[in-house]
Amino acid sequence: MRMETSGAAAPAAGGQTDARVEDVLGQLTLEEKAALTVGRDAWTTVPVERLGVPSVWLSDGPTGLRKARGGADMSVGHNIPATCFPTESALGASWDVDLVRAVAGAIADEAQAEEVQVLLGPGVNLKRSPLCGRNFEYFAEDPVLSGELAAAFVSGLQERGVGACVKHLVANESETDRMITDSVVDERALRELYLRPFEIAIDRADPWTLMAAYNRLNGTYCTENTRLLHEIVEGEWGYTGIVMSDWLAVNDRAAGVAAGLHLQMPHAPTADAVAAAVREGRLPEERLDAIVRALLAFVFRVDAARRPDATADPDAHHRLARRAAGESIVLLKNEGALLPLEGETLSEVAVIGAFAREPRYQGAGSSQVVPARPVETIHDELAALIGPAGRVTYAAGYGADGATEPALLDEAREVARRARTAVVVVGLPASYEEEGADRTHLDLPPGHNRLVEAVLEAQPRTVVVLVNGSAVALPRAGRAPALVEGWLGGQASGGAIADVLLGRVNPSGKLAETFPARLEDTPAYLSFPDDGTGRVPFAEGLFTGYRWYDARRIDPLFPFGHGLSYTTFAYGEVTSRIVGKSGKEVDGNGHRVVLV
Ligand code: GLC
Repeated sequence: MRMETSGAAAPAAGGQTDARVEDVLGQLTLEEKAALTVGRDAWTTVPVERLGVPSVWLSDGPTGLRKARGGADMSVGHNIPATCFPTESALGASWDVDLVRAVAGAIADEAQAEEVQVLLGPGVNLKRSPLCGRNFEYFAEDPVLSGELAAAFVSGLQERGVGACVKHLVANESETDRMITDSVVDERALRELYLRPFEIAIDRADPWTLMAAYNRLNGTYCTENTRLLHEIVEGEWGYTGIVMSDWLAVNDRAAGVAAGLHLQMPHAPTADAVAAAVREGRLPEERLDAIVRALLAFVFRVDAARRPDATADPDAHHRLARRAAGESIVLLKNEGALLPLEGETLSEVAVIGAFAREPRYQGAGSSQVVPARPVETIHDELAALIGPAGRVTYAAGYGADGATEPALLDEAREVARRARTAVVVVGLPASYEEEGADRTHLDLPPGHNRLVEAVLEAQPRTVVVLVNGSAVALPRAGRAPALVEGWLGGQASGGAIADVLLGRVNPSGKLAETFPARLEDTPAYLSFPDDGTGRVPFAEGLFTGYRWYDARRIDPLFPFGHGLSYTTFAYGEVTSRIVGKSGKEVDGNGHRVVLV
């Protein structure tokens, strides 16, 4: 798993950059210095034309490029089209650092072609609870897996000249009231779990930027937390990049400068407060200079890495998205080798569930990409790949947002009964898992559970395909002979799932998060999302994820690391022979061992 990354191949800070930085810094007025520490608008930094300091464009996100159509445009869903790759929770299940690096490299090429210098990703918060609404945007419940994949993502971006932004620093493992909650974390858990992925990414790949989170950490906002930013990140880790705020996460800009926050995003009228703090002696100008020095080094570094002639191939990226989605799919169950579908089982395949035609393929919120290609559907891709070798029928099975509709259930039963095999597609609607809100339960929509039950009654040869960003309870689907976790697999997820169901791709994904049998079994059950007073007590301490289930001997539904494949293994008869020095066979105890 461990990968020695080359780190940023683009121009590193140092040498002539330092001289240029010192020269510019010496000519900046106090007002100009203060202005540099705050964004110009929603997505760009402040230039200083007279001194040759360019503006830098920042864009989301870990699932693909989400570039706004204007510097001040904060809308979601109207962005410049880009390749929508699998979300991080899917990529996490691939455990493949080379794949993650390739995906990040493709996103970087698209960013360069759109003149974006920093991509706001990857997210490395851990999956402390399966209920976190943003789990789809994070790699794993384990800090080392998360850190290694993040390092690969950072390297993939930065070796193509686009800065990464590892986020959200730190202990932002829930969405509820995230802008005001106080994460109360003990020192060991903070160091060994929540800071660890950031530390690994910095150590392995030197991300040019980090993003400070909304929440407080042990009483102090992350965006003005001196111990976090100045003492640990800058002091202990020797981090030389810049730390930007999450959007609208700054409460006191001067306190942020003092603590080590380089850049407030988006723009806010706070530069004057920084200048005033210096003038009134509340903020040492040397501290502001240190912040501006790092900002200038960052701006010159990303500016030198621009590739204005860069082009991106959306068709090649679509193929990469399909490969990445395929490598992320986890085969959870396959009783009786029902999968892959082949031969006679293809004569009539009933594809059931509206998500098979209206795909769930990415998470809702700031990571949301406008796909550059039509989103593949499971239904159409199965029909195309099965072709004349069989027949695909369809039934919607459930209503909008997963409601149960008797007429749809009846139709689904009939379609399933008539077929040789049924493929039921269920999962979490966008309203169930999104940035800014946490789930309150692990359940699939009622109509989805009802559909699985109905189809299993009508057709024992049923495959259940899940399309979701994080662990779900499977009271019905868990009874299916075959169960496939398809995740939120991006614009090519329909084809990737069809590839696995038909055996064109051998499933190799492994869970990077535990699927619990019950919500009550989960580590943060008693303290999530908070304790009712705005505190988020990380009461489970070190025992997050598999550590919890192992320590308490709780059997999960599917454990961290679980994943089957179509490969079969058999142990044949072991034979051995003994060959002495002369090379002759020596009979010993009926065995033949070859001594070489
Ligand atoms: C959001 C997210 C962050 C994102 C930023 C810009 O609130 O927390 O991940 O990069 O704002 O959209």
